[in-house]
Amino acid sequence: MPDMSIKRGVQRPYVRSDLLAVHSLNEFVLAVPDLEEARRFYTLFGLDVREDGAGLSLYTFGNPHRWGRIVEGPRKRSHHLSFGCFEEDLPRFRGRLEANGVALIDAPAGFESNGLWFRDFEGSLVEIVIAPKSMPDEKTRVEELAVAPGYQGAAFRRTAPRIYPSRLSHLLMFTSSVPQAIEFYERHLGLKLSDHSGDEIAFLHGVHGSDHHLLAFGGSTFRGLHHLSWDVPAIDEVGIGAAYMAANGYAAGWGFGRHVLGSNYFHYVRDPWGSYSEYSCGIDFVPPGFEWMSSNNDSEDSLYLFGPTVPSDFVTNYEAQDPGPRDNEG
Ligand SMILES: [Fe+2]
Repeated sequence: MPDMSIKRGVQRPYVRSDLLAVHSLNEFVLAVPDLEEARRFYTLFGLDVREDGAGLSLYTFGNPHRWGRIVEGPRKRSHHLSFGCFEEDLPRFRGRLEANGVALIDAPAGFESNGLWFRDFEGSLVEIVIAPKSMPDEKTRVEELAVAPGYQGAAFRRTAPRIYPSRLSHLLMFTSSVPQAIEFYERHLGLKLSDHSGDEIAFLHGVHGSDHHLLAFGGSTFRGLHHLSWDVPAIDEVGIGAAYMAANGYAAGWGFGRHVLGSNYFHYVRDPWGSYSEYSCGIDFVPPGFEWMSSNNDSEDSLYLFGPTVPSDFVTNYEAQDPGPRDNEG
């Protein structure tokens, strides 16, 4: 097969202290109306779902990092995003946020921490906290498909393995303004634009070594979660994971396909609240110090290289249908 790869930038010297930027999406917190339904969905999806006080914590098997928490609320809603920084950078972030006029606020009840808390341009709650770098330092290797001559490469359906994602890769959030989201998260958190499609969608990476995107934004009229993306190390795991979810009542979604921006193979499984969890494999990687030349692309050309027709409501923000009061929700 011809080589499809495209060189996207240049390597520059990397001096960590020259940069002030979060290194990872440390954790997401999501409120949902039914914790039991959440436990069932994420357990079937292959996550290590643990009791955590009044809510649930989401881990991946074999990894000590807590990727997310699920709390109970009247409706599905993104509660806050927490970004991880290096220890020496926290006071620098405090200085930058204060200099930029971003008001620091108290941690919401139940989430007390040593981190810096503030609201972004549309009122969504954000934390920057000292945390281990959970975003990988190098490109995640995709396992080889080839098998030796004389061997059957595929398992029977009855012996297909359960799929357990290895880590969180990224989140895609709906926003009322993709350009403002890019501006805010670049200026205050130090994320960098990887690629975008006009004002429809934008992908942001970390500069300390990051997947092509650790956070993405899609245009809507209101903030909401579109999807969580979970990395699996083999292309087959994307399909086998999705087939298992379909057999257990979660057949809706989109996939199997391959994105262009990010290059990852995907299958999105629709969750009980109209958002998605994505099995993702082979996402592009931006090494530390690499200057990824961002590009603006027609979405027709760049959403996916191949895959089924996009479901008509794939980019519907179901969180926006019942926005409810955002004040005093912590
Ligand atoms: Fe994704």
